Amino acid sequence: MVQSMRNGVLAITRDGRIAVMNEVAYRTFGLTPSPEDIGQPFGDVLRDQPDVVRIMASAFELNHLPNRAELRLKTCRKVIGYTLSHVLDERGQAAGAALFFKDLTRVEQLEERERLRDRLAALGEMAAAIAHELKNPLAGIEVMAGLLRRQVPDSPDLQGLLGDIISETKMANAIVLEMLEFVRPIRLEVERTSIAQVLHDAVRMAESKVSRREIGITMSVEAHLPLIQGDHHQLCRLFTNLMANAFEALDGKGTVAITAAAGPPEEDHSGSPDAHPAPMIVIEVADNGPGVPPDIADRIFNPFFTTKAQGSGLGLAIVRKIVDAHDGRIDLTSSPEHGTCFRVTLPMSSRKEWYQ
Ligand SMILES: Nc1ncnc2c1ncn2[C@@H]1O[C@H](COP(=O)(O)OP(=O)(O)O)[C@@H](O)[C@H]1O
Ligand SMILES: [Mg+2]
Repeated sequence: MVQSMRNGVLAITRDGRIAVMNEVAYRTFGLTPSPEDIGQPFGDVLRDQPDVVRIMASAFELNHLPNRAELRLKTCRKVIGYTLSHVLDERGQAAGAALFFKDLTRVEQLEERERLRDRLAALGEMAAAIAHELKNPLAGIEVMAGLLRRQVPDSPDLQGLLGDIISETKMANAIVLEMLEFVRPIRLEVERTSIAQVLHDAVRMAESKVSRREIGITMSVEAHLPLIQGDHHQLCRLFTNLMANAFEALDGKGTVAITAAAGPPEEDHSGSPDAHPAPMIVIEVADNGPGVPPDIADRIFNPFFTTKAQGSGLGLAIVRKIVDAHDGRIDLTSSPEHGTCFRVTLPMSSRKEWYQ
């Protein structure tokens, strides 16, 4: 059987002993291969996989054996697709039973991701439409409040109220713009980009977004860092968002340390044999602020998650999107003592460029 190389095979004898169990089967069931298992009762060897035991135990009781059925292995959270058949002796009697199966876990995950992507795409379209519809009335409110303010120069009360309306409208408008930015698909304009330049531009942009006050900034970019293949504008947005968050976390006092260096080659997890480890660049944005509380750390990248009264919760969602578009990675380390460090790892040249 040629394809048994990648399929799991488990066979038992009529009296319930293991006859064959290949390496894939051991691996899928999370067991260590051992020749001593052959001849042992399958209920013993597979005691940690009660679902499999149940199926094998039914093999000699069922008239119609399951063909292309699916089974969720609860103990190891895997999904297998399997076929159970009898092994017949020369008289046509069932001398044993064989289970052939495939680990479908990855297929399932991919399908799940596909479904999620479809759902997000639909949501994104709706959000984009709403944001678009809101932009004009908001601009109208702001302009008209401005006109009105000029008509009541002598009333400080009305001046104050109208000023509030204008600044609230500006805020709403900023959120709408950020939302549009978030839902719009990213089309990278890849060019040879200097990370040092990106980081300098980002500092300036962050300073214009959030007042820096007493916050110190240190920047250390490794000398002779090669240019990378990336979208200068998008990378600026990415680091602007990280720095703006750092400024906000520091609330006027503290330090933001920015570093960039060539990183160790990324290990290849794609499993394809011809993939070479890609040279990477590692950029860190670290602040000595209060840190991200552990109980929210896994949600901060979610769109609309914010702990700030005036936050949009889209900054890090956009960051993640830009990092993904560049085939990069972002990691967070944080503690109340040391503050927060976002580490962005980018390939010096994205594999995607070959497809674009
Ligand atoms: N440097 C940081 N230090 C502490 N908390 C942070 C930092 N960066 C992000 N966060 C947390 O992540 C949340 C989400 O950030 P973000 O997506 O940029 O949205 P927003 O800034 O609008 O709240 C913030 O509200 C904050 O709680
Ligand atoms: Mg933010």
